[in-house]
Parts: sequence; C-alpha cells; structure tokens
Amino acid sequence: MEVFEAISGRRSVREFKPDPVNEGDLRKILDAGRMAPSAGNCQPTEFVVVKDQAIKQRLARAAYGQTFVAEAPVVIVVCANVPRTSRRYGRRGEELYCIQDTAAATQNIHLAAYALGYASCWVGAFDEDAVAGIIKAPSGVRPLAIVPIGRPAEKPSAPPRRRLEEIVHEDTF
Ligand SMILES: Cc1cc2nc3c(=O)[nH]c(=O)nc-3n(C[C@H](O)[C@H](O)[C@H](O)COP(=O)(O)O)c2cc1C
Repeated sequence: MEVFEAISGRRSVREFKPDPVNEGDLRKILDAGRMAPSAGNCQPTEFVVVKDQAIKQRLARAAYGQTFVAEAPVVIVVCANVPRTSRRYGRRGEELYCIQDTAAATQNIHLAAYALGYASCWVGAFDEDAVAGIIKAPSGVRPLAIVPIGRPAEKPSAPPRRRLEEIVHEDTF
C-alpha cells in the first residue's frame, strides 16, 4: 500500500472481528514499530504482545472500561525503557525524547497494521501504574500506549481535521 493511502485511510477502530492476527503479519507490524526513529538511536521502545484473554480484560479495565481493548485478538502495549534514553540525554531524554520515540513507533504500528488489512486504535487513557503492574513492567519501563489490533468490524468515517491553512505558519507564527 502506498504510504499516503495508509496515512489518510487509517482510522481508529473500536470494534473488532475475533479472527486472529496472522503471526507473520504481527511480526511485520512489530518490525514497523522497531524501525521508527529514536533520539540518538537509543531505541527505548519495547513491546508487550498480549493475547491472553484474562490479561486483555485487565488492560481494558485499567483503560477505564474501554472494553474494545479486550475484544481485539492482539493487544500491543508500547513501552518506553526510560533509562536507555535518560542516561544519554538526562531530563530531556526522560521527559520528551523517549515519549516521542514511542509515539513514532506507535504510529508506525498503526500504519503497518492498516496496510496489512487490520485495524487498530491508539489507547492512551489508562492508569499507567495499573498497566505497569499487569504487564509486570520492570522499574524504569513506562507503558505509554495500548494498541488493540484485529480485523475491523466497523468502518468509521474520518473525523474532521483542521485545515492546512489554519495550522501552517509561514516563517513565524
Ligand atoms: C495519544 C492518543 C491517545 C488516544 N487515546 C484514546 C483512547 O484512550 N481511547 C480511544 O478510543 N481513542 C483514543 N485515541 C484515538 C483518537 O481518539 C483518534 O485518533 C482521533 O479521534 C482521530 O481519529 P482517527 O484516528 O480515526 O483519525 C487516542 C489517540 C492518541 C493519538
């Protein structure tokens, strides 16, 4: 799939068919996340791939009852291994770069999933401590996004975007 088609066609989907995600496809999706840029190439991003139904349900509860999280066949918890970046870049690495790095990886995951015919949703509203406990995150590893992935069972229309003229500023604001 052409990159611009993936960027504009991808939607946040919150209803999934129970069909499993093919293992080869899952690897391609994770690999797209791995290939994202990172500050200083520190690569702080780590993925927890959740298929266990009980764990998915606990994640859905930690995401304030967003039950669709547990309905997807696969859920990827995208984490930042903060010390990988902070030991090189200090506070800016901890507070900014490793967050940006995981966001870039998360977007790659969405686009790759869509290009392979799957749907996903970026879930950011969750109790971070609860999710860290559920996935047994080691100290210094922050779960920053929950991404349910599966075949779409709905086709949402595109939410509006601000016009380019409104958000692009020439030379200065
Ligand atoms: C950082 C971030 C956090 C988000 N958290 C949630 C969430 O917790 N639950 C949810 O249903 N959607 C969540 N979304 C998805 C947005 O609602 C969605 O991207 C936006 O409405 C635009 O729709 P689109 O993705 O179909 O273009 C989140 C998106 C981002 C980027």
